[in-house]
Amino acid sequence: MGNFADEINKRRTFAIISHPDAGKTTLTEKFLLYGGAINLAGSVKGKATARHAVSDWMQIEKERGISVTSSVLQFEYGGFCINILDTPGHQDFSEDTYRTLMAADSAVMVIDASKGVEAQTRKLFKVCVMRHIPIFTFINKMDRDANDTFTLLDEIEKELGIATCPINWPIGSGKSFKGVYERESKCVITYSDTEKGTKEGHATRIPVAEDALLTEQIGEAHKAQLFDEIELLDGASAEYDLELIQAGELTPVFFGSALTNFGVEIFLQHFLKMTTTPLPRKSDIGLIDPVEHDFSAFVFKIQANMNKAHRDRVAFMRICSGRFDAGVEVKHVQGGKVMRLSQPQQIMADERKILDEAYAGDIIGVFDPGIFSIGDTICMPKEQFEYEGIPTFAPEHFARVRQIDTMKRKQFVKGITQIAQEGAIQIFQEFNTGMEEIIVGVVGVLQFDVLKYRLENEYNVEIKLENLPYEHIRWIENKDIDLDKLTGTSDMKKIKDLKGNPLLLFVNQWSVGMTVERNEGLVLSEFGKN
Ligand code: G4P
Repeated sequence: MGNFADEINKRRTFAIISHPDAGKTTLTEKFLLYGGAINLAGSVKGKATARHAVSDWMQIEKERGISVTSSVLQFEYGGFCINILDTPGHQDFSEDTYRTLMAADSAVMVIDASKGVEAQTRKLFKVCVMRHIPIFTFINKMDRDANDTFTLLDEIEKELGIATCPINWPIGSGKSFKGVYERESKCVITYSDTEKGTKEGHATRIPVAEDALLTEQIGEAHKAQLFDEIELLDGASAEYDLELIQAGELTPVFFGSALTNFGVEIFLQHFLKMTTTPLPRKSDIGLIDPVEHDFSAFVFKIQANMNKAHRDRVAFMRICSGRFDAGVEVKHVQGGKVMRLSQPQQIMADERKILDEAYAGDIIGVFDPGIFSIGDTICMPKEQFEYEGIPTFAPEHFARVRQIDTMKRKQFVKGITQIAQEGAIQIFQEFNTGMEEIIVGVVGVLQFDVLKYRLENEYNVEIKLENLPYEHIRWIENKDIDLDKLTGTSDMKKIKDLKGNPLLLFVNQWSVGMTVERNEGLVLSEFGKN
């Protein structure tokens, strides 16, 4: 064990997920208030001006005022070194959003109290569940009229299939929001609408036993309702169980208002007590321990053309074990090369900071001369192992793509293959033909525009996209299946990936179920293996 164990053990790396507008950016900004932000990397997007200031890697980002890429922030709080991985939302939702979750040890899910569980939360949540990482729920915007608290919890349990354990409980909402009751300490923390940009200000803590004071602060009616609800809650909700939380089977729930900065620090304090240090990661030689093992990392994201002038690519890696020293040679396992990582930097955007060292739990970006692929392993030269690959996530939009100038076949194939390699899109072929017909699948529709834009600008190839009606793709898990004998629905389409693996496309979910039913023993998966 190195003397850097302390550095690793104080790291907490989590992704923050939400449906657009639930308040992810605001909450992240408030987190930063509590710690000295070491590096504001890649921004907290949000305010229109900030969006532009932060990332102009691609013209498309500028034109649309959105951030196509995810970002990382690092700050210190209470002796912890915290890495927050932001996941892009809106239409810029892409596979990168999913992959970011592969680099995190836990996830914070922000839910708008008046909306409940929304589409995008559901999608991201599935990936967290697949990885069994702890999920923490922050129910935001309690200063606005909120849905009934029990209904909100019920929805999380039913829709997401995870048990909930409220750590605190709201008293009223909207204009009559009085604060929260903290179950562990049996105290009411009264709501105070602090000014934007200041730390949690005048909140007072009142033990519920102090009846008179409590009545004075929240009123008789709220008090009575609170007592009723506590009783119900104690009887009905899952008990606090750290083991289940850390296994991703129970989500602790917090209520607050990021905008008025209420409940944010309470959340942070509880969260840091419950979340994990950097987790060991699976490899082909077994679990790699973050502290016991020398430096190792895996690539989870590749960003092309961060600087148009240099046509550069940056590979983002999550350090899984040990200490990274910029001066030392490392091995790129898949490439079979020993090398020095070029221009290692703490990501990103215009705030790139070259760094000399980093630790397990941290994310670094390195200059990529076109050698890295998503999922690649980096370790010390004397070692040889590969981290478990990153799954391929099911695209939900498909289009047939044709180049307009057929003379440019070579550039077209090169361009589209490279872009697919970076993981921005997935490419498939008709089952019985070759590369002449290419089908592109994307997780978010914006990726179609990105593809078109990049092929034109970087490869000088114009393309035409013809949208296809499919929304569901499934990988076939059975290796021995006879595809000709498969009885599918009329809307089913057989395709293959570049390695020749067969896949099925469906227009609707019903057809997926029907096909499984009609073919005994057929196992379909929503996640592919790289
Ligand atoms: P996102 O990153 O999840 O997309 O959400 P973001 O933080 O950008 O918040 C979306 C909108 O919700 C913003 O308003 C923000 O101010 C507001 N908001 C966030 N948290 C709270 C909260 O606790 N209470 C209330 N009442 N509002 C909240 P906007 O009008 O779109 O932006 P802005 O003009 O305020 O920046």
